[in-house]
This record gives sequence, structure tokens and C-alpha cells, in this order.
Amino acid sequence: MTAVAEEQSANPLLDGLRVRRRPDPCILVIFGASGDLTSKKLIPSIYSLAFRGLLPEKFGIVGAARSEESDEEFRERMRDSVTRYARDPFKEDVWDALAEHMYYVTLDFADEHGEDDLRDKMNALDAELGTLGNRVYYFAVPPSAIGTLIGELAHRRIADGWLRLIIEKPFGHDLQSARQLTAEIQEHFTENEVFRIDHYLGKETVQNMLALRFANGIFEPIWNRQFIDHVQITVAESIGIEGRAGYYEQAGAIRDIFQNHLLQLVAVTAMEPPVDFGADSVRNEKVKVLKAIHTPGPKHVVRGQYGRGFVEGVEVPAYREEDGVAPNSMTETFVAAKLYVDNWRWADTPFYVRMGKRLPRRETTIAIQFKRAPHPPFEDGGSQMMRPNVLLIHVQPNEGVSLAIGAKVPGQGMAIRTVHMDFLYGGAFREGLPDAYERLLLDAMLGDSTLFTRTDEVEEQWLLVDSMVAAWLRDKPAFPNYPAGSWGPPSADELLHRDGRAWRRP
Ligand code: BG6
Repeated sequence: MTAVAEEQSANPLLDGLRVRRRPDPCILVIFGASGDLTSKKLIPSIYSLAFRGLLPEKFGIVGAARSEESDEEFRERMRDSVTRYARDPFKEDVWDALAEHMYYVTLDFADEHGEDDLRDKMNALDAELGTLGNRVYYFAVPPSAIGTLIGELAHRRIADGWLRLIIEKPFGHDLQSARQLTAEIQEHFTENEVFRIDHYLGKETVQNMLALRFANGIFEPIWNRQFIDHVQITVAESIGIEGRAGYYEQAGAIRDIFQNHLLQLVAVTAMEPPVDFGADSVRNEKVKVLKAIHTPGPKHVVRGQYGRGFVEGVEVPAYREEDGVAPNSMTETFVAAKLYVDNWRWADTPFYVRMGKRLPRRETTIAIQFKRAPHPPFEDGGSQMMRPNVLLIHVQPNEGVSLAIGAKVPGQGMAIRTVHMDFLYGGAFREGLPDAYERLLLDAMLGDSTLFTRTDEVEEQWLLVDSMVAAWLRDKPAFPNYPAGSWGPPSADELLHRDGRAWRRP
């Protein structure tokens, strides 16, 4: 079955990113402008917004980082990024209009003068462009650098403009540091000025989970422990740590993916229907799920670290051989766990989750595995061929949804085979999917925090992660325990085998 979108927008460029209104004039300041996130994601996404005419009419960008760079050098570097990473073709006129109001300020976070230069630059831009003192500050810097910056910015705040702080994940390093960061922020800013980003929530397919569940009458009645046997969530990456050893050695898979992206996927899968799609209604329901997840016992958690191996036919080094990684590093690059959401809807229904680097391929899926049909009526082996139904949400790649059902094989007898009913974004909608950062940057400029995480969500996420990490201090697995290019350590398979189940092989 191929679904065809019935309603196409008059302007196909706006499909997938329908605008309700254009953001107010503002200046976007990116702290950490020399980092990868800025060049690979943020500026290419801003370019795509410009390409579609979705940016504010009066708009300026200021990149800020420690390294010395002139405005011209910054623009050149960003132009190169756009040609390499933007999803849209490079158009000279779109770029020129954007680059004309793009500046760079050298900023040593420990030195107040940098912030004065930044303030002067922004004030000059306000006068030149008419951006009315409105600011979006994007913190693409480690959590430790945020606190000081926040204080400095607060002192230079302009009374009549609005302000939005976009803060990259992970928000803190554990519950205590997250609370401390929140306290530092709350000293100067209100919660509705803070936009904690988890880019998985900006992915169309993650939002489509909400559409699938709450825009269709057929799923909700069976979305519970009576009909669902278990849920499997896989966030697999074939890449390694991409030169980010300094960050990853501290974070590991648990803080890099589990604490945020993975738990958000669990939350959107398990949440109750919100009364509306307002920021608080949605987040109230998600936080209830996070509260209901209990710490898995040690037998229900598996840690892994990759050794040498082959990924997509290419030989790759072990994690401990990556540049900047300690030769005896105990940082995990893989986590699998069996989680329970202890509430009325999900009691006793396992959520098996796994995530890791250097797995065979990039693949994020949520698989809802339904219970078996109660009575096998067919002869000729047909009954043995009956498999439980599975609803597969392909978060990426090949974005879409697929339902596995049993069908009769043509011919005599009653042989049954599993077939798939597929909805593929690529086939149903004309335009390609926007990058998650496009959606989230636009939402932040519009002041819509529905797809951003709230303080209490972040704290619940840390509570769970801290209790898992505390248990890890007691036992030391023999790392490396899976070769690059495999699906993780054998104990991850045992986690399901013990329950008479198996991971789906993507
Ligand atoms: C980031 C992590 O948040 O997400 C990276 O820090 C990871 O380690 C990335 O590679 C994955 O994002 P995506 O959108 O490619 O699934």
C-alpha cells in the first residue's frame, strides 16, 4: 500500500515546514561558532530557512567563538559549509542576502571584554537592521561554559527586546550539575525564555509518532499492555566518534544518546494523549512517562565498547585507538536496556532499547510488537507461519511507517507469509524532509517551546541515568566487547533471549 498525501501545499517548497507566521525581527548569536554543529547543521539549516523565505524579514547572525577570525573568513567558511551540507541547492542571491548580515566576534568566555564587543556589535545591528533588541542565543558550547556566559549576557540585556536561549544537550553532566545550571539560568531568565534542544524531537518522523497515535482512531484502543507484547527501540549508528574524543570520553553513549534522544523516543511512544498540542500539555504527558520509568536492575542493562572491525566494508580502529581516547578507556559506546514504564497502560510491557556507535548501519526504528493472534486455526503448517503483527516506525533513514501482517500465499492450502503495508515519506509527499534543526530554530524564533525539553523532563532523565551510572562503578566489563560492524555485545542478545524474544534485525 502506498499512501499518497491528499493535500499538497500550493507551494511545494513549504511542504513539511508549514508556517503559521514569520518570526519577529531578531539577531541570532551562535556561541561555539567554530564547532562542527555550527558548520554542519546550524548554518546549513538557516540557509534552508532563507531559501524558503521563512526567516524574519530583518535578521542578522553573529558567530562567536574563541578563535580569531574576521567577518570575511567566517562568511567564507560558512559558505563552504552550506555548499557541502545544506539540503537545498546553493543559490548565490539567497546566500548573499544572508551573508550580508553575518558577523563574527572573538569571544574568550572568561574575559568580559568579548561580551562588550558582542553587545556593541548587536546594538549596531539593531540600529542598522531594525532588529528591536530581540535576541536568540544559541549555546553550542559545553555545559560548563554556559553558566558564566549567561551571567554576562544578563547584565547586558536590552530591556525592551525579547530573548530566547537555545541550549544544546546534554544539559549538565548529571542531575546535580543540571540543577545547578538551571539555578544559574533562573537567576536571570524565566523558564519560557529557555529552549533546551533535543534535535530528535525536531525530526518529522518523531512528530509523526504523535500524528499516528493521536490523529488516527484505530491505534489508540490497542496501544497498551493488552495488545502490545513489547516495544523495541534501536538508535544505531555506523559512524564512530568523529574526532570528538574530548566530549565523548566524558559523555559515553549513556549521556550522548540514552539520556536525551532515546528517552524522548520512549516518551513519545508511551505518553498519554495530550489535551492539545500546546507546549505544556505535551510536556506534562511526557514527563509522566519519564517519572514512571524505574531504574533497570543490573541484569537488565548491557554496556559495550567497540573493538576493531569492519563497518560497511571498511576496516576501522577500536574505540581505544581513536585519537584522544585513553588506551584503557572504560567509556561505553553501546548501551542496551530493558525498561518498564510502570503505569496503568504499560505495566509489565518491556521496552527494549539499544543504541551504539560503529554498528553495521545507521538505523533508528521504533518497533511496536503486538501479541500473537490468540488461536491458530490453519492447517498445512499455516499456523506455524503466523507471526505477530509489528508496527515499525522508521525514524531514519527511509523515513516512514510499515505494518507487518500475515497474508495468504496464493495457491492451494492456507500457507501464511508476513507482508508489509508501507507508507514512505519519499513516496507520499513531494518535498524532502526538513532537517530537524530547521524546524527547531524556527520554533525557537517563534517562541514555541513544544518540541523543546522542560526542566522537569531533563531532571527525570538525569535521575534515571545517574542511578544506572552509579551501579556501573561496581563492575567493570571486559572492554572492548563487540567488534565494530556487529550489533553489539552478545549479552545484548541474551537480554531478550532470556525472555524468549529476539532483536529485530533491521
Ligand atoms: C548527537 C550526538 O546528539 O546525535 C551524536 O551527539 C550523534 O553522537 C547524533 O551522532 C546523531 O544524530 P542523527 O540526527 O544523525 O541521528
